[in-house]
This record gives sequence, structure tokens and C-alpha cells, in this order.
Amino acid sequence: MMWKDSYRLGVERIDHQHIELFRMTEDLVNAVRDGAAVEVYQKALGFLKDYVIYHFRDEEAYQASIHYSGLEAHREEHRQFTQTVLSYEKRLTENGFDAKTMKDLAGTVTAWLIYHVVDTDQKIVSGEDAAGEEKYFDRYVDLFSNSALDVMETMAGMDRGSAKLHVTDPYQPIGDIFVSIHLVGDLEGDAVFGFSKELALHLIQSMTGMEVTEVDELVQSALCELTNISCGNAATALVKRGLQCDIKPPVVSESFACSGDGTGIQIGTDSGWLGIGMLMKDAQAACAAQK
Ligand SMILES: [Fe+2]
Repeated sequence: MMWKDSYRLGVERIDHQHIELFRMTEDLVNAVRDGAAVEVYQKALGFLKDYVIYHFRDEEAYQASIHYSGLEAHREEHRQFTQTVLSYEKRLTENGFDAKTMKDLAGTVTAWLIYHVVDTDQKIVSGEDAAGEEKYFDRYVDLFSNSALDVMETMAGMDRGSAKLHVTDPYQPIGDIFVSIHLVGDLEGDAVFGFSKELALHLIQSMTGMEVTEVDELVQSALCELTNISCGNAATALVKRGLQCDIKPPVVSESFACSGDGTGIQIGTDSGWLGIGMLMKDAQAACAAQK
């Protein structure tokens, strides 16, 4: 089961709606895993979309009623996710509810929903600003690997205490599945996340509560969302430091070639490993942060 009682906020109405959202997402995941008929896909997506819109409106009204300071940023997250669901709906309508696009949608929704409810929504009740606290780091690669660990802990209950980190300079791209994100602004280049197959499957299994045996589109899109959230959080920390930093959409691939001197960190866990590389366009920028 996807829903866990630890996800509760303690606001009955919102918790009830979150449980419904998780149930609908689980139905969507089951439909794509079973290779259901187009009508089942249409129904599952239709329910989810309508409920997402209804729930976001209600949750924002609740935030306004308690004068939550992070409302605007939170509303923006809701708006972006609604856009994501609507653009999937458009693509699916155009391609006749293609099974691969459905898997892609299910992975994105699962990862986004879990992180949003477990992290962002919890801030409503804790009163913390949606942007989070300031983070301290010496090297960019440390910031990005810490963000990845935070997100894996939040989303998949990873025990970060048992994770072992070691520096891999220069970065060597090893991994069974790569997700890269282009960074623009003062920090220009690519952040590359190389997941071992074991870790990829473990993460998605922990998120969905289902047995996952192959790296399909669902797994890939959930990893893209995980990487997107990790890099987004790191970019927010850079902006807090007065740097300009924006991230482009994640790109997934089975292999990755790089030239130049990237810096890297390998995160080893009991359930597989993740190698993170920072390939900066301007070597000066990467060096400047390594003091
Ligand atoms: Fe929310």
C-alpha cells in the first residue's frame, strides 16, 4: 500500500483527501502494471485530475485560513503539478492512451505526490516556510549529494546514517540508469545522477509498496522526478546564497558519456548505490566552490 500513517498532517479533512489521492494514484499504478484497457486508463486519469484540482483548492483555502506564510510558494507548486497532469492528459488524448506514456505519468505522479505530502505539506502544520532552511556546504557536489540523500530519505525511508560517501574525482559516469539535469545561471553545466539498478528498484519499491523487478518507464520517470526535486532543492539553496540558478527538465538515458573534469561523489547504501557528477561548463566556477 502506498499510503503510510506517518504521512498524516493531523488535519483530518486534508489527511482524508491525501488518503484518497494516494488510493487513486495506486489505482493508476495498478492499471499500468496490469496493462489495462484504454477505458480504465481514461477513468483513472480523469478521477485523479478532478480530485487533484479539488484537493489543491481546498488545501490552499485551509492554508489561507491559518495565515500560512508559505501559501504563495505552495500554490505555485500545486499550479506546476496541475500543469504537468494536464499536459500528460493532452499527450495521452493525442496518442490514444499509449501504455508507455501512462507508465511515465504513473511514475511522475507517484514520486511527486509522496514528496509533496511528506515534505511540503508537512510544512503547513510545522509553520516552516515552503522554501526550507538555509543549507551549508563547501562544494557544489556536496550540496547536490546531500539534497539527493534528503529526498531519498523523505521519499523512500532511506537510512542516511548507513550511507557511505566517497569522492570520485574526476567523475566517471557509472550507473545502470542516468538522469541528467542541465543547470543555467551562475552555475552552468550538468548534474548527473547515475543509479545502480538495485537502488533504482529499491527506491520505487519503497515508494509504491509493490514489488518492482524491471526498470521500465514508470521507474525511469519516478527517478527523473526524484532527481528533479533533489536538484530543485539544491538550486533553491544556491539562490538563498545569492547565486542565480535554474534547472532544466531531467533527461533519462541508459549510458552517459562525458569529457572534462567533473567532480563526483558516490553514495553507497545497503540497497545499491548512486553516483553523482557535477560537470560544470566553467571549470573556474566548479573550482571556486571547492575551497
Ligand atoms: Fe499541498
